[in-house]
Amino acid sequence: MIICELNEVHCLVGRGRRARSILYVEHLRLRQGEILGVIGPNGAGKSTLLKTMALLEPPSSGTLLYRGQPVDPARVPASLRRRMSTVFQNPLLLDMSVFDNVAIGLSFRGVPRKERSKRVNEWLERFRVRHLARQRARTLSGGEAQRVSLARALVLQPEVLFMDEPFSALDFPTKAALMEDLKAVLRESGTTAVLVTHDFLEATFMADRLAVLVGGELVQEGPVPEVIARPTERAAPFVNGWKSMATQAISQPKTGASPHVFPEDDHLEAARSPRTGA
Ligand SMILES: Nc1ncnc2c1ncn2[C@@H]1O[C@H](COP(=O)(O)OP(=O)(O)OP(=O)(O)O)[C@@H](O)[C@H]1O
Ligand SMILES: [Mg+2]
Repeated sequence: MIICELNEVHCLVGRGRRARSILYVEHLRLRQGEILGVIGPNGAGKSTLLKTMALLEPPSSGTLLYRGQPVDPARVPASLRRRMSTVFQNPLLLDMSVFDNVAIGLSFRGVPRKERSKRVNEWLERFRVRHLARQRARTLSGGEAQRVSLARALVLQPEVLFMDEPFSALDFPTKAALMEDLKAVLRESGTTAVLVTHDFLEATFMADRLAVLVGGELVQEGPVPEVIARPTERAAPFVNGWKSMATQAISQPKTGASPHVFPEDDHLEAARSPRTGA
């Protein structure tokens, strides 16, 4: 089952002759139950793609389908919006207790108190933060706050969870533990997810399939092993840069000289330049 489909989607900024393309996606599908990793260098258009798919910002042209039905991004029905949750790099928690932060969405939806309490505790437990239920959210560490913000998103049982760089501010052990827990939670709950990251390791660990963006264009889409083994010409500089760095980090004797990590730097620069005009 295809949850979301984009066809000929174009996002432009500026007007007339100053119009600049920041995203072009010929075709992209999000399948039920999968984790789609959206990767690419800074400024590649990843957040723009996420906001487009999450129906937060309408594209300049193109079509979006949800479960096969065309959606007008300027008039998204509340029933459809409720099937999606979004988590950003900086957790947007309210100045109240952890418990209340996770409960508030359920209150808005009229979930009775007893049921609300049960679900909040269940999700705090799944993200290993139940012991923090009474703590004020603004006093949490970055890793704890991100766990709470994921619990807050998932307690609403969304059909799709959209995440934009949710681990970027976390140190490695915190990030690794959270990624493992999140992956297990997404699998258990069967939630479809889109994970935006510039970190190839994060994406390959978490995702089933990858969408590679370079210079505002979708340059490859496919299962993780396929993208790693056979990057397209335009995806290759980014993908091979990461592969090369991982290989060198593991295998090179440490001589003190800094290795030339990205052998195709010139191509990378060229690939980064966004297209102009429509
Ligand atoms: N409203 C806007 N007006 C002008 N330019 C914009 C606007 N929104 C995005 N851009 C430009 O579009 C490009 C893509 O932005 P986007 O935020 O999608 O990139 P990204 O891949 O998420 O980058 P990062 O990894 O740094 O978060 C950037 O060059 C950005 O400056
Ligand atoms: Mg971004």
